[in-house]
Amino acid sequence: DAKHLYTIVVLGASGDLAKKKTFPALFGLFKNRYLSRNTRIIGYARTKMDQTSFEGHVSKFIKVKNEEDKAALSRFLSVCSYQSGQYDHDGDFQELEKHIERVEKISGAKERLFYMALPPSVFIPVAACLKKNNYRQDVVTRLIVEKPFGMDLDSSRKLAKELGALFKEEEIYRIDHYLGKEMVKNLMILRFANVIFGSVWNRHSIDNIQITFKEKIGTQGRGGYFDEFGIIRDVMQNHLLQILTLVAMEPPVTLSSEDVRDEKVKVLRFIPPIAKEDILLGQYTKSEDGKEPGYLDDSTVPRGSKTPTYAAATLFIHNERWAGVPFVLKCGKALDQQKTEIRIQFKDVPGSIFTNLSRNEIVIRVQPGEALYVKMMNKEPGLGMKTIISDLDLSYSSRFNSSVIPEAYESLILDALNGDQSNFVRDDELDAAWKIFTPILKTIDEGEIDPIPYALGSRGPEGVSEFVAKYGYTREQQQ
Ligand code: BG6
Repeated sequence: DAKHLYTIVVLGASGDLAKKKTFPALFGLFKNRYLSRNTRIIGYARTKMDQTSFEGHVSKFIKVKNEEDKAALSRFLSVCSYQSGQYDHDGDFQELEKHIERVEKISGAKERLFYMALPPSVFIPVAACLKKNNYRQDVVTRLIVEKPFGMDLDSSRKLAKELGALFKEEEIYRIDHYLGKEMVKNLMILRFANVIFGSVWNRHSIDNIQITFKEKIGTQGRGGYFDEFGIIRDVMQNHLLQILTLVAMEPPVTLSSEDVRDEKVKVLRFIPPIAKEDILLGQYTKSEDGKEPGYLDDSTVPRGSKTPTYAAATLFIHNERWAGVPFVLKCGKALDQQKTEIRIQFKDVPGSIFTNLSRNEIVIRVQPGEALYVKMMNKEPGLGMKTIISDLDLSYSSRFNSSVIPEAYESLILDALNGDQSNFVRDDELDAAWKIFTPILKTIDEGEIDPIPYALGSRGPEGVSEFVAKYGYTREQQQ
């Protein structure tokens, strides 16, 4: 049950992120009693809304499956209230302070969580207003912030400096929602709670590692926004790199946030900036039947834009454990399927006495359908000594009750409420991540790399198979 009693303020409450992720996650926590019944939630945004329209907005993406959910939703809405105001106006934040004090009088809350679901342009003005008008020395204050954290190393540092002048690092919770996903959280347990992986988890046994993110949807209506960032900033520099870090880091001394993040930073610092020859870019065009529009058909996308909607990049970690092992990160929109997975491919069996061998692989499927499976050679049952590749399969849907798997945002908001920063990005971690990507992003932004076109709904740009093969990835032998 709830350990803390908070007032939660969602800034940017009328926006998409709040509607699709923040409020449904808060509801999930409330329904399952991870939020105290006395918690009060205040939405703040520029849009003028009365309580009824705010409730409509909040509940839009909340799934109500039965009567119990319905009752929980109505209790949840009764602890939510809304206030509109500008993002840079002290007077409005003073009104917000009165609102907070009013609800705190009833709830008795002594802790405040400010959830910034805001566009980057108003980020610092809002943080400054909060510090000036809504920050009290005797109240525990936490700030959840959402990407983008800058566009490159310089802008990220500028942002960090401005935010750091207002709030302490231990008050800032930078969300990367992939860190809240069940299978991503499982990585530390898999690696450090099993003896069987420890001794093979290095360059002596592993040939290459593939981390793949595929999405079916294109930029649909977000084209203009997306064009400023591109797929590398949108997905690779954060979500995929975070996964890489957890796959590659050394064991932390303890599970404390600082120990975990120290190890993550360390592994990032061993990765040199990505070289131009280690990257392949793509941009989607119309679907093959011509019915679905291509990226450049979106009127909000600048004509002739070279922004990648697909990227494959190979990173190397120059430390004792990983020297020479390619980590191939691939991500794209408008592809044939939705899938995020980690594929750890082992080396060939040295001097094998068998023919027709495929490599061992450990596959961690992050989504959809959480699963872990190990590809291994087996004797094909029957007479003779034929080999066959088989799976040791741990599919969550058949082994566990998958309905207990929380949404990433629920898990992370709960961590923030409990003051656990281990699954949030620390400032030096962000810095190290930008150092890896900034030079190549500059080259891309200058239009020096032409993205390879691929049809919406296809498997991606031509050349990807050759790209992954170049870094050692070997397909399964046909049996
Ligand atoms: C977001 C990106 O961070 O992650 C989106 O901005 C992307 O473009 C999304 O679609 C993917 O998240 P999930 O949880 O749906 O895999």
